[in-house]
Amino acid sequence: MPKGLVVYDSATGNTEKMAMAISRGMKKAGLTVEVKRVKDASLDDLIDANAIVLGSPTYFANVSNKMKRFIDKSIKIYPDKLKNKVGAVFTSSEGVGSEMTLLSLIVAMLLHRMVIIGHQSGDFGAISFKEPDNNCVAECEAFGERIADFTKVIASR
Ligand SMILES: Cc1cc2nc3c(=O)[nH]c(=O)nc-3n(C[C@H](O)[C@H](O)[C@H](O)COP(=O)(O)O)c2cc1C
Repeated sequence: MPKGLVVYDSATGNTEKMAMAISRGMKKAGLTVEVKRVKDASLDDLIDANAIVLGSPTYFANVSNKMKRFIDKSIKIYPDKLKNKVGAVFTSSEGVGSEMTLLSLIVAMLLHRMVIIGHQSGDFGAISFKEPDNNCVAECEAFGERIADFTKVIASR
């Protein structure tokens, strides 16, 4: 069974709630899934996963420093250890700069030669404004299912 890994940072719980919802969707669609706070995630976790989903709160229209440090650590496994793995991203903000955060995460994944799955709505990834409401949680679950569906196809090639 393909493996999904959701790695997130969250100071006040909003991004965490999205991480849990996305992982539920991924499990529902048949992946085994690990969810880790970024401080607990390792490069081996990334290498072991078929799909890597990264989430960060938006801080000054970018990722948090904990997430940036984790991404910078991944230079040790650059350029090809994550090649052709599935990637997807999410963020929580108060409304300004979410897309820039998502793009920062996506650009790092593209540099790692990963295959990016965008959000079903056409957004670059899942976005919540402050605490995710029920609608956002349902969208995150559906996003998780979408990520898992593509992961199963890519992992079987
Ligand atoms: C240092 C800092 C910078 C922030 N910068 C932004 C920002 O640029 N745009 C925005 O909309 N919200 C900004 N916020 C608000 C957070 O993105 C928002 O509260 C988010 O929901 C927090 O997610 P969390 O509960 O997962 O920590 C900032 C918060 C902090 C603490």
